[in-house]
Amino acid sequence: MNRWGMSTQQRRAYERVRGGRSFGAGAKAAVLGLVLAIAGFAFTVRLGRAETSVLDPAGPRAARIAELWWVMFALGIAVFVVVMGLLLVAIFRGKRGSDTEERGPFTGTGFVALGGAVIPFLILMIVFGATLWTLIALAEPEGPPGLTIEVAGHQFWWEVRYPDQDVVTANEIHIPTGQPVELKLIGADVIHSLWVPQLSGKLDLIPGKTNTLWLEADEPGEYRGQCAEFCGIQHAHMAFLVIAQPPNEFAEWLDAQREPSDEPAPDSVVERGEQIFLGSACVYCHTVRGTNASGELGPDLTHLASRRTLAAGTLENNLGNLAGWIVDPQSIKPGNKMPATNLGSEELQDLLAYLMSLR
Ligand code: CUA
Repeated sequence: MNRWGMSTQQRRAYERVRGGRSFGAGAKAAVLGLVLAIAGFAFTVRLGRAETSVLDPAGPRAARIAELWWVMFALGIAVFVVVMGLLLVAIFRGKRGSDTEERGPFTGTGFVALGGAVIPFLILMIVFGATLWTLIALAEPEGPPGLTIEVAGHQFWWEVRYPDQDVVTANEIHIPTGQPVELKLIGADVIHSLWVPQLSGKLDLIPGKTNTLWLEADEPGEYRGQCAEFCGIQHAHMAFLVIAQPPNEFAEWLDAQREPSDEPAPDSVVERGEQIFLGSACVYCHTVRGTNASGELGPDLTHLASRRTLAAGTLENNLGNLAGWIVDPQSIKPGNKMPATNLGSEELQDLLAYLMSLR
């Protein structure tokens, strides 16, 4: 017995006559579907406002990808509305009872062939055509590239080289606005994937192979990028920034980066810090152009202080974070290749003064 004072068999018999149960289940499914669709749409709109969103393109290539996304989204909505409409028709027809063998417009093998094969085929053809159109638009632009940048993916940071300009930096790709820039992508150890959602599609960095990706930004700004292929324990902390600058500012940046590090003033804190740096294990992994430090396992530090972040987008680049990173990098990014450096507090202060002078 239940709250209606009927046994289960009685209630089932009652629902069979009334058709209530089938209506209840169908209506619940329809309402659930609708709620999920609204939630999905709200989430999409929220994502569209996020820092790294495909739906907030900042260049012509990313704009083409966003257009394709909206076409697929619109098709998805249309299919959803039609299917939900047909579901409601089926529910109400079921409610009226299955004994009446009436022939509506949505019955028979013709309708099944149309709805189950012909229309899906047409929709897939539209998606296929739109995808090809986008791929063609993203292909190599005409003429030689104005700028080529080599990007190597390491566990877990990005090495960035401007081979024609003799510039090396890390975790930061500066580009001039308003022109397509060619990125040559190389995997230095395992497979990584470079993705700047606001500027372009993603492409893998594969050891022993060079892949080419084109980036283009309309407006100056900082665009966050992320490794998009699981590459080990710190994959999530393998981020970078693309910094798009007006061409004249970009040229100034290149000139500054090409310079070796400044010679420290004699008997200064910075000079003491340089001696500590050159006398420590730092030099086996890091290069500072203009000194004897020429290690190649870690990022080039010649202009470290000019960069926005530390540890591949993990920390803001400031004195406190740099101190934390040098003293205990493994608690910030467990599994990265940088060992802890054991220094007295005065030595550490001198070393920090030196590193922060590398502008
Ligand atoms: Cu590199 Cu994931």
